[in-house]
Amino acid sequence: PDLEKWVDEVPRPDVAEPSGTKDGQPYYEVTMREVEQELHRDLPLTTVWGYDGQFPGPTIEAEQGEPTYVQWTNDLPDEHLLPVDTTIHDDIIPYDMPGVRTVTHLHGGNIESESDGQAQAWFTRDFQETGPKFEKKDYYYVNDQPPATLWYHDHALGITRLNVYAGLAGFYLLRNDHERNLDLPDGEYEIPLVLQDRSFNEDGSLFYPTVVSDEQGGSDDSHPDPSIVPQFYGDTSVVNGKAWPRLSVEPRSYRFRLLNGSNSRFYTLKLLQYDESSGDIGGDGPPFVQIGNDGGLLSSPTKIDDRLEIGSSQRADVVVDFTKYAGETLVLHNNAPAQYRGEVGSTDDDIVSLPEIMLVDVGDTGNTRDDDQLPDKLTQVPEIPVESVDNNRYLTLNSGATDDYGRQLHLLGTAQDQDGLEMGAPVTEDPSLGDTEIWSFANRSAMSHPIHLHLVHFQMLGRQSNGDYDPEDKIDLDALETPEPYERGWNDVITVDPGEVVHVIVHFGEHDGLFNDQTGTYMWHCHMVEHEDHDMMRPFEVRPRSD
Ligand code: C2O
Ligand code: CU
Repeated sequence: PDLEKWVDEVPRPDVAEPSGTKDGQPYYEVTMREVEQELHRDLPLTTVWGYDGQFPGPTIEAEQGEPTYVQWTNDLPDEHLLPVDTTIHDDIIPYDMPGVRTVTHLHGGNIESESDGQAQAWFTRDFQETGPKFEKKDYYYVNDQPPATLWYHDHALGITRLNVYAGLAGFYLLRNDHERNLDLPDGEYEIPLVLQDRSFNEDGSLFYPTVVSDEQGGSDDSHPDPSIVPQFYGDTSVVNGKAWPRLSVEPRSYRFRLLNGSNSRFYTLKLLQYDESSGDIGGDGPPFVQIGNDGGLLSSPTKIDDRLEIGSSQRADVVVDFTKYAGETLVLHNNAPAQYRGEVGSTDDDIVSLPEIMLVDVGDTGNTRDDDQLPDKLTQVPEIPVESVDNNRYLTLNSGATDDYGRQLHLLGTAQDQDGLEMGAPVTEDPSLGDTEIWSFANRSAMSHPIHLHLVHFQMLGRQSNGDYDPEDKIDLDALETPEPYERGWNDVITVDPGEVVHVIVHFGEHDGLFNDQTGTYMWHCHMVEHEDHDMMRPFEVRPRSD
C-alpha cells in the first residue's frame, strides 16, 4: 500500500509496571500476546505480536545495583503469524509440536546463563513445551553494570527473525544516580526510538517474504517453500510501531535512545532540512551529539560530523539541540543501501533502500532551556589493558557454504576452521573466567555484518584490511586504523565491513568493578536475524577460573 507519510505522531512506548516483588526486588510478568494495532492512520489494523500486547513492548526501567526479576510468558496462538521454514535446524527443532516457540533475551545485559534467554531455552504457551536449554521461568537480571540502553527481544532457535518481525522487542533502560546528576534531557525530553522496517499487504497484514528473490541470488526449485531469505529489507519505515511517523519537538535539547530494531537493515543517519510539501531535502539540520553506545555512556560527548551508523541491534544514545531550528521541519535521513557495503546486488537500488525514516517538526516555542550545555565529561571508561591479554582468537565471517537445499549460508569460523562452523558444532570459544582476550573478526564475505556477543561488553582496538593481517602474527596495534571517538566506549555489537579485520578486546569477568563473575554458555552471532537463524551463530563458554 502507498501510505501517506508523516500523518501519525511517534508513540512513546509504555513503561512496564512490576506486578509485585520477589526476594524484595521488582518482579515483572510480561506476556507475549497477539493483538491488532494501528500502525498507520490509513492502514487496516495489523495483527502483531507484542510483549504485554504492545509493539514495541513496554520499556522496563531498572536501576544499577537493584536486581529485577522478569517472567516472560507466552500466550501466543498455536500457529505462527508468518510462514515458517521448517527446514532450519530441523534436526533439533520439533516443528510438529503444537504452539509457537519463544524465548526472551535481554540484549546487552551481563546476565547469568540460565536467565540469558538463549536460542535453545525456548518455551511455548504456558511453558507447555520447553527447549533443551530451558532452565527456569523467572529470569534474574542483576543489573550490576553501567547505565545503558538495553533492549529485549525474542531469540527462539530458527524463528528469531519471524518472532522479532512480528513485534517481539522492547527497551530496557538501566540508570543510576551518576547519570541523573549529569542533568541530561529527561522526562518527556528523553525519547527511546526503535527504528524498524516492515512491508505490508493491502489488508494491513505484515508481509514477510517466503522465497529468495532474484536480487538475493534467485530462487531455486530445490528450495523449500516457504524458505528463509538471506536478508530482509522492508519498504516502509516504522518507528516505535508507527509507519512513516512524525515527531513534534520543542526548540530545545532532546535525548534520543536510538535502537536499530530492523531484521537486516543498516542505517546511516543524519537530520536534514526538509520541505514537507515538496518532499525536497535541504541542508544539514542539527548534528547528533553522541553520549553513549551499546554499553553505556561515552567518556565525553562526541559530535557526529558525518552520519551516525547503526547496524541491527546497535544503540546510539544521542543528544540533539533543536534550539536554532525553531519552526523548521527536518527529516531523519538514512543513506545506507540495503545491502550495506556489499557487492552482492549490482546497485544500491537492487534491493529497496529507505532514505526517509521520520519527520521532525520543530515547534516555534516551548520550554526552552538555556543550560543546554552538556558536561564535558560524562563518565570514566576504564580501558582494558592490552598487556593483560591471555589469548587472541581469529574469527572469520564467511559466505562460501551452502545448506542441503543449495541456499547460501553465512558461517562463523575459527583459525582452525576458517570456512566456518555450523551452530551445532562443539564450542570453540571457551575463555576462563578472569581472562582477557582479543577477538579478531575477519570478514571474508561481501557485506557488512553486525557481530554481537552476549554477556560481555568489549572495546574496539581498531581495524585493518584482511590482507594486512596474518593471524599467525602478533597484532601490530600501531598499524591499525583507530576507532572513532564514538566507538571507544563499551560495545556489545561491532560492524565488520567486507575485507576488513576488526580487533576487539574483551574481559570475561570483573573489571574495575563493572562486570559480574558469570560462567556458563552464551551465544555470539551476527545480528542480522536472517543470518543468525541460518547458522551465523555460535555458542561460547566461560569456564570457571583456571587457577
Ligand atoms: Cu540481540 Cu543474541 O541477541
Ligand atoms: Cu550477517
